[in-house]
Amino acid sequence: MKHYTFGVDYYPEHWPRERWATDAKMMREMGIEVVRMGEFSWAMFEPSAGEFHFETLDEAIAILGREGIDVILGTPTAAPPAWIIEQNPEIQPTNWHGHQRFFGGRHHDCQSNPVYREHIRRYVTAFAAHYADNPHVMGWQVDNELGNSHGDLCYCPSCEKRFRRWLKEKYGTIEELNRAWGTAFWSQGYPDFEHIHAPKITAAWGQNPSQDLDWRRFTSDLVCEFHQFQADILRKAAPDKWITHNLMGFSSKPSYYKLGEQLDFASHDQYPGGHFHARHNEYRADWHAAELDFIRAVKQKSFWIMEQQSGITGWEILGRTPRPGQLGLWAMQCVAHGADTIVFFRWRSCAMGTEQYWHGLLPHNGVPGRYFREVAAFMKQYAPLLREISGAGPKAEVAILRSYEQEYAFQIQPHHPQHSYIQHLAAYYKALHRANVPVDFVGEHHDWADYKVLIAPLQFLMTPEMAEKLRAYVQRGGRLLLTWRSGVKDATNLCHTEGAVPCMVDDLCGLALAEYDCLRDAEGKVLWGAQEGEAYSSRHWCDIVETTTAETLATYGHDFYAGTPAVTRNAFGQGAAYYVGTTPGDELADRITAQLLADAHLSPLMETPHGVEAVRRVKDGRTYLFLLNHNDHPAHADLPAGFRTWDGAEWTGELTPMGVQVFVKEA
Ligand code: GAL
Repeated sequence: MKHYTFGVDYYPEHWPRERWATDAKMMREMGIEVVRMGEFSWAMFEPSAGEFHFETLDEAIAILGREGIDVILGTPTAAPPAWIIEQNPEIQPTNWHGHQRFFGGRHHDCQSNPVYREHIRRYVTAFAAHYADNPHVMGWQVDNELGNSHGDLCYCPSCEKRFRRWLKEKYGTIEELNRAWGTAFWSQGYPDFEHIHAPKITAAWGQNPSQDLDWRRFTSDLVCEFHQFQADILRKAAPDKWITHNLMGFSSKPSYYKLGEQLDFASHDQYPGGHFHARHNEYRADWHAAELDFIRAVKQKSFWIMEQQSGITGWEILGRTPRPGQLGLWAMQCVAHGADTIVFFRWRSCAMGTEQYWHGLLPHNGVPGRYFREVAAFMKQYAPLLREISGAGPKAEVAILRSYEQEYAFQIQPHHPQHSYIQHLAAYYKALHRANVPVDFVGEHHDWADYKVLIAPLQFLMTPEMAEKLRAYVQRGGRLLLTWRSGVKDATNLCHTEGAVPCMVDDLCGLALAEYDCLRDAEGKVLWGAQEGEAYSSRHWCDIVETTTAETLATYGHDFYAGTPAVTRNAFGQGAAYYVGTTPGDELADRITAQLLADAHLSPLMETPHGVEAVRRVKDGRTYLFLLNHNDHPAHADLPAGFRTWDGAEWTGELTPMGVQVFVKEA
C-alpha cells in the first residue's frame, strides 16, 4: 500500500471552479499528498433518482491528480439529499422519546430502513463503478463518523423490527429471552417476539437493564452491518482499493473492534481544541494520548488521522485559538502514538453552513495566515520522518482492557452519578502517561499473554470464559489489576446469585466481597502500607472485602470500615492479581501503577517535567523517542543514554513552549 505523509479534507464544491487549480498547486507546494472528498455531496452528485452527475468531482480529481495528489472518496450517506427525504420522510430517524428528527443537519437517516438502503445501493453502486478504475482514487471512507449524531437514534418501527430479528437469532425462543431478561420483574413477560419494542422512554424512567444492554449491542451491530452493506458494494466494484473509516476515539455507539474487522486500517478524527474547552491551557494531552493509543488497538497497528485540527474550532460557540506551535505539537502527538498519515481538516474555512467557524488551514479569504504557515513548516520538516517510521509500533508491555460490553453496562447503571467506565480506565492510563510508560489498549478478544501488566478495571459482566482467560494470564506470570464491580453480573446483565463476588475470580483475587458503599457527596481515604502519612484520596465507591489468601497493600482510612482492605495483591500461579476496591484519585493511581510496574520489573521511558510527554515508536531495531512539551513555557529534559536528535541538530536540553523534539537510538 502506498504511503502518504500529509493530506487535507477538501470540499471543492464550496468554491468556484476557477479556484481549484490554485488550491491544488498550493497543496502540492505545501507537501499535501492525499485529499479526502465527497462525503457530504450526495445532492450534487445525484440531483434526482438515478441521474448521476460526477463531472465536478471528476474535474476536481483530475486537477489534483495533475499535481500528483491522490484521493480518498467518501460515500455521502451521512447526508441524504432533500429529494430523498421528501419522497421518503419515514427514513428520518426517531429518538428515544419517539419523536422524529428532521432534515437540515446531517445523519437524518435511519440505518436499518430498507427504503433508505435501496437509495444507498443505487448511489454507492454507481459511485463505485464510476471511480473503480480511476488511478487517482486510492481508497474509500464509508459514510462519516458512524455513531456520531446517533446518540439516541434510531427507535423507529424499522429498527424495532430488526431488533426483534436480532433477538430471535440470539435467543431462539421467547422463553429463553424472558429468562435472560428477567422479565418476571414488573410483569414484563413477553408472550411473543412481536411484542418487544425498542427501549424508548418509560413512564417510570427506569428500564430493564438486560433489554437495554441487548439494545446497545444490537445498535452497535446495526451500525457495523450498515458499514458492511456499503463496503461490500465498494469492494466488489474495486477490489484493489482500500477502505478506512474516521473513528472518534472513545466514542462507544458501535464497537470499533467489530467495525475495524471490515477496514484495511483505522483512521481517527483528532480535535484537541474542540469547541468545548474554554481553557486553552488545561492539560488534556493525556486524554488525547489515550484516544490515540486506543485507535491503535482497533487493528493493532498504526493508523491515519483523517481529520486533524488545523485552526480555531467551533460551531455556534468557539474554543480558544491554537497557540503558536500547538498545531504542529498536536499533529506530532498523533505521529508519536502511531499515526502514519495526518490529514488536516479542512483545507479552507467554509463561508457557508453550520461549520463556518470550524477553521481550516486557510482562512475564509484563502490567503495563507499563521495556521497555514505553521503547518506548512511542520510538514516540510517532518515529512521525511513520517516516511521513515511508517508502520512503527510503541512496543508496550502494559495493556489496559477496554470493553464495549462493560462500558454499555455502566452506561445503563453508572452506580455513582460521576462514575464513567472510560474515565475510570483513564485514571490508570493517565497515571501511566504521567510516568511515561507506553500503553496498549486491548479488547476481550485480543491475546494479552505477552503483556507483563494487564489493567482490567470494572469486569462487571463476568463469564466463565473471561474468568478462565484472566486466570490463565496470571497463572503464566502476568500482573493483573481488577477493581470494584467485577464479577457481579452475567452476560445478560442479571446478577450472579451463586458464589462470592467477584464471582468466578474470587480465588484469583484471594478475597470475597462483604458489602459496599457508594461515596455520594463524599470522598474516600486510602492508607498505603503501614507507613504513616501515605494517605490518598479516592472516590465513587468502596468495596468492603474480606481477604482469604490476598495480602493487603492499603486500607481504608474512613468510616466504619476503616482498616479494612482497599488494595490487595494475591500471588497466583507465577503471577499476581491485584484488586482495587475504589476509584483512585491521581496520587493513588500513581502509587498503584508504580507498584504494578515494580512487581513486573518494568521502568518508565524517562522522567520529564509536568506537561512534557515522552513517547516511543520502534521500527527495525531503531527507537524513536518523541518529546512533546504541552506547556506554554519552556521545559528542560535530560535525554536517556544513547539517543541523538533525529534531524542531527544539537540538543540543548531545552524544549520551546509547545515544542517537539524527536530522537533516535540504534538497537
Ligand atoms: C467532524 C466531522 C467533520 C466536521 C468536523 C467539524 O466530527 O467528521 O465532518 O463536521 O467534525 O465539526
